[in-house]
Amino acid sequence: MLDPKDWQRFREQAHAMLDSAIDDIATIRERNVWQPVPLDVQAALSQAPLPRNATPLEDVHADFQRLIAPYATGNRHPRFFGWVHGGGTPSGMLAEMLAASINSNTGGRDHAATYVERGVIRWWADIFGFPADSSGIVTSGTSVATLDALLVARTHALGSDVRSTGVGEKRLVGYAGRNVHHCLSNAFDISGLGTSALRLIPTDASGSLDTALLEARIQADRAAGFTPFFLSATIGSVDTGASDDLPALAACARQHGLWLHVDGAFGALAILSERHRHFLRGIELADSLAFDFHKWLQVPYGAGLMLTPHRQTHFQTFADKAAYLARQQQGTAGGDPWFCDFGIELSRRFRALSVWFTMREFGLERLGQVVTMNCTLAEELGERIAALPNFELLAPVRLNIVCARYNDGASDPLELNQINEALAIRLQLSGEVVASTTRIDGNLALRFNFTNHRITSDDLDRVLTALITASVNPKEPLK
Ligand SMILES: Cc1ncc(COP(=O)(O)O)c(C=O)c1O
Repeated sequence: MLDPKDWQRFREQAHAMLDSAIDDIATIRERNVWQPVPLDVQAALSQAPLPRNATPLEDVHADFQRLIAPYATGNRHPRFFGWVHGGGTPSGMLAEMLAASINSNTGGRDHAATYVERGVIRWWADIFGFPADSSGIVTSGTSVATLDALLVARTHALGSDVRSTGVGEKRLVGYAGRNVHHCLSNAFDISGLGTSALRLIPTDASGSLDTALLEARIQADRAAGFTPFFLSATIGSVDTGASDDLPALAACARQHGLWLHVDGAFGALAILSERHRHFLRGIELADSLAFDFHKWLQVPYGAGLMLTPHRQTHFQTFADKAAYLARQQQGTAGGDPWFCDFGIELSRRFRALSVWFTMREFGLERLGQVVTMNCTLAEELGERIAALPNFELLAPVRLNIVCARYNDGASDPLELNQINEALAIRLQLSGEVVASTTRIDGNLALRFNFTNHRITSDDLDRVLTALITASVNPKEPLK
């Protein structure tokens, strides 16, 4: 009923749509990184009347071209340095289309998509030196992978009865460095453990969790009747790219019987880079690892992975016995266990396909070169900004992140924060560069993140020019 009446016409329209999407990516450098969504476009999208009647596909696509495509986030562009965004690839786009073409529900049942996901999980277990029979699940990103991991750790600590009884009076507490991503605090909230059960430990001069302070806090908590059960290490902190000392944290976790989780949202991909894989030394000792494919692996949004060697505990954390989901020895309801037994979602997209395509098309060596190249360019940008008059670095360049600010040496700290915030906005509105902001010791930093395979040295020239131009009259109010 909803298939095209004229397949040939549909085919022509589909080819035209694909052509325009390819053109859009191929010419990305010729356009602004980002531009604001005009008010009339906002209204056309968010206040549109209910579509009671049919619209020809070509008209819907024309609206996409006019209203949506020009106002994308901008992260495909090589001068988008904000937050931690991957650039995506044209073939990743095709993989997403093919995944939609077979419209698989990967929550369960016996079909090829679930074997692709198992294969992808096995590949990454191999890459990180986890046991070959490790368990995992492809998620929408690291936030959900982190929640999954925390729930598995909760089962490990309290047994699967916690699913019916709740955490009750048990005073479980976990630990992470102060620079941990807020998704861990969210996971403590959602899991019923409570955000105050997450102890944030100060970091040392290198930005790593201070192990002496950690030890002291664990002992103090035990003495006060709490039950330490979880320790999260970060490889690649979101603010500055700092990494924790994995072997030291693994030793501490072992000594105190803690579950060692690793947030490697982007940093875990350093394992693919000859020069940077040392940050992952000891990763094979982790009880769980959460990281993203949509960041440094350049897979389209949203895809991440939770990996754990504790297959049985992972299963006990999520598996259910609903009659309508009964498994069979053979037939479509085979393939036991199903991915819905290992995560929050029942119905799931075929996220693993674009990971499978990306890994196969480019191979690990080339993907690792993206990581190495991004880190080299980040170092170069750091050096060049530090050499500019009236600019300074607010943190050493670690891995792939540069935190810098304008400082005329005369303005007070509050004024400097306002100037730098306005500078970030001015850069974004110029369409030349998108940088985001963060705070380093209370000082507002312009933050340049490198997780895009398209960035070249020429782009750094343009960043420098844009910084100089945008800071000519730093106190001028924004228009
Ligand atoms: C270190 C770190 N952890 C977790 C996350 C959350 O990942 P996601 O946005 O894929 O949920 C991010 C996102 O930037 C991150 O940088």
